[in-house]
Amino acid sequence: MSRNSKTKCIGILTSGGDCPGLNAAIRAVAKSAIHYGIKVLGIPDGFRGLVENRFLPLDDPDVSGILTRGGTILGTSRDKPHKMRMGDQVLDMTKVAVANARSREIDCLVCLGGNGTQKNAQRIREAGQNVITLPKTIDNDVIGTDVTFGFNTAMNTATEAIDRLHTTATSHHRVIVCELMGHKTGWLALGAGIAGGADVILIPEIPYDRGVVAAHLIERRKHNKRFSIIAVAEGARSIKEARDGKPAKPSGVESARQSQGKKGHAHALHEGPHLVQESLDSRIARQLQQLTGLEARTTSLGHVQRGGSPSPQDRMLCTLLGTEAGQLLAEGKYNVMIAVRGSKTVPVPLEEVSNGHRTVPIDHPWIHAAELVETCMGNRIRRT
Ligand code: F6P
Repeated sequence: MSRNSKTKCIGILTSGGDCPGLNAAIRAVAKSAIHYGIKVLGIPDGFRGLVENRFLPLDDPDVSGILTRGGTILGTSRDKPHKMRMGDQVLDMTKVAVANARSREIDCLVCLGGNGTQKNAQRIREAGQNVITLPKTIDNDVIGTDVTFGFNTAMNTATEAIDRLHTTATSHHRVIVCELMGHKTGWLALGAGIAGGADVILIPEIPYDRGVVAAHLIERRKHNKRFSIIAVAEGARSIKEARDGKPAKPSGVESARQSQGKKGHAHALHEGPHLVQESLDSRIARQLQQLTGLEARTTSLGHVQRGGSPSPQDRMLCTLLGTEAGQLLAEGKYNVMIAVRGSKTVPVPLEEVSNGHRTVPIDHPWIHAAELVETCMGNRIRRT
């Protein structure tokens, strides 16, 4: 064990939506930090745990055997230090968060999370606490990195689901609309859609025309293709909605979550008729059934996409990112997100990645490939 580390003590937290690979990343950060002689503290439930001054020691046995486990042993939350619900009030607890870290002599906080976490970490950093972040999310939408951990596993899960939908759609000669997560971006729907051979893929970056989608389904039927699978990202919107300025905003579960947040109720999903709205997959299926006369069904994959054991690729990625964090900590290099660029992990200044989200470029090779295999992207009629 090397004891010459510039960093003496770190705190690790996981924040935002969970995803497969968080435990693999916690393990890699903790084990490599311990290797360099750094004391490791776990912080439960994301930034809330930090604000509430909750810490637990993470020693080697605590992170042993967690590589393959889904979720996060630390627990997570979407709480933001600068807008923290404390009882009946929402308060700026940034200074408290930093003071709590200082009271434990934490040299650097290691924050594992998506876009929200990058922003929150940057705020903590501006308040004087060193941070290092790792890019996590099944949405793959963190700026500055080629890929986020959790995405590959979610793509595998969603692809398997689409495969299963194929067999039942084929047997019943149906159209099945499958809604996937992805927040405001289409990476997951596009990736799983291509890998699962979806016939139509609708993503927020390419507003769709339902007439075009209907024509594509009819063309397929004319060519004796008696089933169709439509992979739709939760943020997808029609050309009209995009023209009217509707943001690529998630439907279903996410909008329920947003209304829960606004109303401050944990049970808002089932609360009253004003919150019950037609989900995106149901609306698209209903419209296409009306336009084509073809029988349609829906499936929303929801949180299944975030569950389960990480894929070997995500385990590798988490191990590479986490151990890179360990090395930077030993060298005393802070205030970066560790990004993936090609086959390398590289530190990127946090301020460069903590604003906005990474959408699918419309000239991305995945879109080109999808169109070349006659997948309808919702904006123009494809040959079948
Ligand atoms: O960011 C990950 C994600 O799963 C998004 O794809 C989705 O929009 C959102 O989280 C759902 O959040 P929650 O689990 O809080 O409802």
